[in-house]
Amino acid sequence: MQLRQFPTYDHLCQHTASHIAGLVAQKPTALLCLASGETPIGVFHTLVALAREGRADFSQCTFIGLDEWVGFGPTDPGSCSFYLYRDLFAPLQLRPDQIVYFDAKSPNLAQECQRVDAAIAQHGSLDLLLVGIGMNGHIALNEPGTPFSLRAHVVDLHEMTITVGQKYFSESTTLTTGITVGLQHLTEAREVILMANGARKAGVVREALHGPVTEQFPASIIQTHPNAQVWLDSEAAKEVF
Ligand code: PGA
Repeated sequence: MQLRQFPTYDHLCQHTASHIAGLVAQKPTALLCLASGETPIGVFHTLVALAREGRADFSQCTFIGLDEWVGFGPTDPGSCSFYLYRDLFAPLQLRPDQIVYFDAKSPNLAQECQRVDAAIAQHGSLDLLLVGIGMNGHIALNEPGTPFSLRAHVVDLHEMTITVGQKYFSESTTLTTGITVGLQHLTEAREVILMANGARKAGVVREALHGPVTEQFPASIIQTHPNAQVWLDSEAAKEVF
């Protein structure tokens, strides 16, 4: 595990975006799974700028959607896919065939899980998984207590995820269930980047890195991955170094 801190969120995002562009330059057909949420927004803006300047080319990549609120889709403001389309997929002008995202409105969510698992399996594994960390230690929507061995699955959301998740919506929104890539996909990914910024993440980052490796704190799985990068701004890192 490589642990680095950057002086500001901007530095963190510039570094992460350059790293992703470098990975894609080496493997143009890379299979990428990038989190939504607030944490990576600056990375997406930088990736889009790099692509517009001709310094990154995503035209042969495939993107796997990490997670979604059940009942929501890309046209619903506040959904995970809404932000990914707005901040990354649309500005990069990706073709539909480059995006594999859960249809969280499907009546058959188990089939959606199988579809995403199969798309990952077709490539062997993810080339890169970029994730943030939740205030309860979740990774994607793998909530505390989720077996590390699960692939894509449907999950009952924890109270804290429901409460914190309100920040993505303009009005109070009922969230009960999620659909998510599983931690087995993280274990098998060729590379994982866990990003965190801001003082409010300092405690969960410390627990993820220095606490016990346990399914009760999903982000602790990062300690077990041989090619994991944990990249933090100085505020998120302040209880780690
Ligand atoms: P955030 O979400 O990036 O909006 O803080 C992180 C998470 O819940 O995984």
